[in-house]
Amino acid sequence: MSEQKTHKVTLIPGDGIGPEVTQAVVRILEATGVRFEWERYAAGAEAFEIHGEYIPAALYDSIERNRVALKGPVTTPIGGGFKSINVTLRKKFDLFANLRPVHMLPGLETKWPGVDLIVVRENTEGEYVGLEHEVVPGVVESIKVISERGSTRIARFAFDYARKHGRKKIHAIHKANIMKLSDGLFLRCARKVAEEFPEVVYREHLIDNTCMQLVMNPFQYDMLLLENLYGDIVSDLCAGLVGGLGLVPGANLGTECAIFEAVHGSAPDIAGKDVANPTALLQSAILMLHHLDEPAAADKTQKALEKVYADRKILTRDVGGTAGTSQFADAILAAMAG
Ligand code: NAI
Repeated sequence: MSEQKTHKVTLIPGDGIGPEVTQAVVRILEATGVRFEWERYAAGAEAFEIHGEYIPAALYDSIERNRVALKGPVTTPIGGGFKSINVTLRKKFDLFANLRPVHMLPGLETKWPGVDLIVVRENTEGEYVGLEHEVVPGVVESIKVISERGSTRIARFAFDYARKHGRKKIHAIHKANIMKLSDGLFLRCARKVAEEFPEVVYREHLIDNTCMQLVMNPFQYDMLLLENLYGDIVSDLCAGLVGGLGLVPGANLGTECAIFEAVHGSAPDIAGKDVANPTALLQSAILMLHHLDEPAAADKTQKALEKVYADRKILTRDVGGTAGTSQFADAILAAMAG
């Protein structure tokens, strides 16, 4: 028998609820039978206190070596302070595609049972390039960068995904009536790529209308293709359709590396109380297991997760239960063993 592979994975627990949900997910991953070697690093304010750097050089090296990371949320100061660690890592490793599958788990009651959407967010351009300056006191300029290369590769990523996973329809979401040049370019690139995929229906919707349509009738959408800022905002809206931010996973994908993290942030309002829902990070970890070519472990974890939700006995309070983070993780472990 050949020796089982050990996956070296960079682990960034993050802050706020990050360490709690990460600990729960690592316990579950270790029970899948897959062998992991974790390289654990602090990032953000915590890393600055320890190393005098917000992203330690050793963390960059670790991701570069391992090419895969599992990441908890990291707090970004509002209106000043250091640059977002999340955005910095995505840019550094050119993780241009942010894939966010939004689907209902069994047993949850929501307004729209059966929602199953794929959000594809461009991850390196738009307003998130961080080019802001004060022109004169009282006037600031914030630059949005949209490139042909960036728009074409994210469109191609979305269409390739649709082809590979049998998805039928992609809506490019935009505001090209106002942002005529930038969103206009984004659309032109998407249209061009769409021509190569005749089996996938291609449509365009304005971002403002899309928000209303998603709330009124999400089933008209299959996959959403969005620029960075629109994708960020619409992801949270979509999370609301399936039960909240505690549920929705994400994968930041580039050609060399991948960082798996939930859509949600550090949730300071509930941090340290053992009440956070680790499902979003767990579903991100399931995406990671697929990426690591461990489909059996991914399926086993997914089935256990679905069983715990279908049973409705041990759920965290954001989805109507009373269980704590660790108790919920125990329930998943029991479902995996049973
Ligand atoms: P948030 O996503 O942290 O929280 C929004 C709401 O959802 C809160 O009421 C929170 O309690 C709830 N929530 C989030 N995750 C949950 C979970 N797993 N279980 C149960 N409830 C959950 O968004 P917020 O408060 O706007 O941002 C907090 C911080 O997180 C900010 O500093 C922001 O910059 C950062 N952030 C980091 C991200 C990352 O590391 N990738 C992504 C988004 C925000």
